[in-house]
Amino acid sequence: MSASILEGKRGIIFGALDSQSIAWKAAEKCVAEGACITLTNAPVALRMGELQGLGEKLGAEVIAADATSIEDLSNLLEKSMEILGGKVDFILHSIGMSINVRKNKSYTDLNYDWMQKTFDISAISFHKLMQTALKMDAVADGGSILALTYIAAQRVFPDYSEMAESKALLESFARSFGYHFGVQKGVRVNTISQSPTRTTAGSGVKGFDEFFEYAEKMSPLGNADADACADFHRAGRPPNSPD
Ligand SMILES: NC(=O)c1ccc[n+]([C@@H]2O[C@H](COP(=O)([O-])OP(=O)(O)OC[C@H]3O[C@@H](n4cnc5c(N)ncnc54)[C@H](O)[C@@H]3O)[C@@H](O)[C@H]2O)c1
Repeated sequence: MSASILEGKRGIIFGALDSQSIAWKAAEKCVAEGACITLTNAPVALRMGELQGLGEKLGAEVIAADATSIEDLSNLLEKSMEILGGKVDFILHSIGMSINVRKNKSYTDLNYDWMQKTFDISAISFHKLMQTALKMDAVADGGSILALTYIAAQRVFPDYSEMAESKALLESFARSFGYHFGVQKGVRVNTISQSPTRTTAGSGVKGFDEFFEYAEKMSPLGNADADACADFHRAGRPPNSPD
């Protein structure tokens, strides 16, 4: 059997909050496939205490970083390179949060200060991360940067509210920054559009159960759960196909 493409690779994983998180499953899978990683989340999320447990289980250092802060991102990248022993090969941005959704504000009555915070956390943080990483030359040649998106970036999902614009912005940053990172450093930038998944961020959206059931029926293979999202080497293959 050939070695995993993640064997010996160094990575940073953002956004594991609890064992339901997409990033949590991805972190477990990456380490199982031979990667060395650091884990990061906002200081307030670290206070919940669950990430430390994952770090201990995976032998991964946990570094606090508010993804909207350039200072925190610089510190995270510097410490990760120190701990992992060189530039990183991959970064997973698995971050999303809407204050208006959280506070049950309807799309036609949004609070614009909260909207700006939502965009900063859910989309601009991706640009900040890439700009900081490029300036610090923190990503190895041929490396990969990935963020999580949702189909509401392209289609109307009324209850997804301002997260739809966040995802459209995120996808646009991936294309535009992907050009510069690709040309300058050979680094690929992509987004993956995940099925509705029962996580803290996902289930916070009004009408989540309806989204979930609709997508389950519309998708030829049904919804991909967080494990399937993390299980990169099977992505796109029909069930029971050989490895
Ligand atoms: N769950 C779904 O149905 C679904 C579908 C498509 C895409 N996504 C996307 O997947 C990604 C991961 O979400 P999830 O579903 O695993 O939910 P989650 O709630 O487990 O993860 C969201 C993470 O964002 C982190 N975060 C929030 N503010 C931050 C900040 N300022 N700095 C750093 N981190 C911050 C949270 O602490 C949390 O760990 C998000 O981008 C989300 O929009 C989710």
